[in-house]
Amino acid sequence: MSESMGKNTAGELERDTIEELIRTAVDQLAYSYAPYSNFKVGAALLAGDGRIFTGCNIENAAYTPSNCAERTAFFKAVSEGVRDFRAICIVGGKGGNPTGYVAPCGVCRQVMMEFCDPETFRIILAYGRENCRIFRLKDLMPEGFGPGDLNP
Ligand code: THU
Repeated sequence: MSESMGKNTAGELERDTIEELIRTAVDQLAYSYAPYSNFKVGAALLAGDGRIFTGCNIENAAYTPSNCAERTAFFKAVSEGVRDFRAICIVGGKGGNPTGYVAPCGVCRQVMMEFCDPETFRIILAYGRENCRIFRLKDLMPEGFGPGDLNP
């Protein structure tokens, strides 16, 4: 783990926490249901109270109802009454072998905008043992639309 792990990007997240999130996201690849794309994705979502909610992508023969790993994790958490989040880790790749960064799709970024502070919420992308990049939501969703825009 080297790239972008300096204090400017890791922020207040502890290195141990980041490593646990990466391990947890990787574990979720085993549960990914991706018979159509064979692109498996796992996510680990860190809540404000320290709990980690997991997610995997879940595809569908009708394609459109497919759900990304990130949204699976968010919807699991919100459906259990949790709405305060610190970070999400995303891993994935063809056949469940992560060989590059998997950035969240636009729909998942919008779901993050609903529940997360763009200034502080961290998006951790990782693959292998050494490759990790950490972004703030505001950097992946510049000029994003969120709940506050409905009540300016
Ligand atoms: N996918 C995710 O689960 N998260 C991402 O960040 C990118 C894409 C899924 C959706 C679909 O099941 C498969 O990856 C290929 O797009």
